[in-house]
Amino acid sequence: MADHLRKYESLFTLTPQRMRMIVEAFTECLELGLSKPNQIVPMIPTWVFGWPTGKETGDYLALDLGGTNLRVCLVTLQGEGKFEITQTKYRLSEEQKQDDGQKLFDFCAECLRTFIESNTGDGPGQLRPGQLLPLGFTFSYPCTQERIDHGELIRWTKGFGAPNTEGRDVAGMFKKSLEKYQLPVELTALINDTTGTLIASHYVNPRTKIAVIFGTGCNAAYMERVKDIPKITHLGIASDAEMAINCEWGAFDSFEHEHLPRTKYDAVVDDTSNKPGEQAFEKLISGRYLGEIFRLVICELIDEGVLFLGQNTYKIEKPYCFDTAFLSLMESDPTDELLMIIGIFTHFFALETTLAERQFFRALAKLVGRRAARLSSCGIAAIVNKMGLLEEGCSVGADGSLYNKYPSFAERVHEGLVDIFGDRGRNVITHHAEDGSGVGSAIIAAMTKARREAGLYPNV
Ligand code: GLC
Repeated sequence: MADHLRKYESLFTLTPQRMRMIVEAFTECLELGLSKPNQIVPMIPTWVFGWPTGKETGDYLALDLGGTNLRVCLVTLQGEGKFEITQTKYRLSEEQKQDDGQKLFDFCAECLRTFIESNTGDGPGQLRPGQLLPLGFTFSYPCTQERIDHGELIRWTKGFGAPNTEGRDVAGMFKKSLEKYQLPVELTALINDTTGTLIASHYVNPRTKIAVIFGTGCNAAYMERVKDIPKITHLGIASDAEMAINCEWGAFDSFEHEHLPRTKYDAVVDDTSNKPGEQAFEKLISGRYLGEIFRLVICELIDEGVLFLGQNTYKIEKPYCFDTAFLSLMESDPTDELLMIIGIFTHFFALETTLAERQFFRALAKLVGRRAARLSSCGIAAIVNKMGLLEEGCSVGADGSLYNKYPSFAERVHEGLVDIFGDRGRNVITHHAEDGSGVGSAIIAAMTKARREAGLYPNV
């Protein structure tokens, strides 16, 4: 197995020099996205103006349509960076992700209705009967926004494919569903999870300058000076204003594939996805794909007759059957015999493994996980470069299953930053972010309400 491992090491390892080249190309793409509309990395102005004061207060509803679940939250902001939250999660089926878009939003509205019904009362943390609440809708897909309560879906990502939605205003579609169910809510803001995370993390830790999600998808947001967003200068917004940018960096290097080190396994993941060519960066990093990359290497070795000779391998040959969570479990197996890995292979795939094979699997998981973390460092470094944050340093709020559950993911991101920037890379530190889609969306709803009351809505 050692020879095989060497081959994969050379395929999946990123040298510091290569990383610096990626950072350079990435930085250019960020600039391009800010200067012209419809670029590969779209750098979307979010209409979230500046940082929260920390004094935002009140009750807000938040609905979060992410990659895997649907979540409804009631958030009470208490000011001074404090809050309370009550929430319920609903599972989304694969069919719902591919079913008609309006039906998907109807389902969101139904879940919201159930949540409101079961949380209305006169106790603490409950909704008062008849109370009309502002709602922040966290819709974590790329949307071009003309105002904060508008968003035209550029394209679905993360395996979603609901027809009749791309190119349409999803806020408008969701409002229709809210009317259909006659819910006592007012859609105040349409928010990306990264923007929510940026604002929520800053609310509790003002050193936060960048937010990144490492979950089913991968993306980042940061606060930009309006004067440095040439594509919106014609709108006449005060040039000393600041606005959060949803980078949608998962799209970096899409279609052209010029900059990223793609292996043939990555090419298969891409070709067999519902959106070939798109989200090239995300497909090398996010939780939706890492398990599949690992599985494709295993399948190659099965075909070459190196692994599992004489065993029935049909279970592991099914696309996407190898969960990314298995990679993190394998990497953190504490036993000499690698009992966790025995468990995964026998229990889920009915396969017997030797110790040498298990050691190989663990090493391979590490290669795939480490590459993802180091590529993420390149994205963070590009934003740090662009904003000139290296000397003073900054905090990066990070969230998502990969960041929270994959052992050493954060450490590897930090290592990557040092490889790119040298010692100064230590000035940039990631930390577990506040719940952006819940708390962040509530704070943004509060900030928007305040702007409206001050006559600043939609975009002065
Ligand atoms: C995908 C989406 C993006 C989202 C990210 C993390 O990249 O396009 O909007 O922020 O996943 O959920």
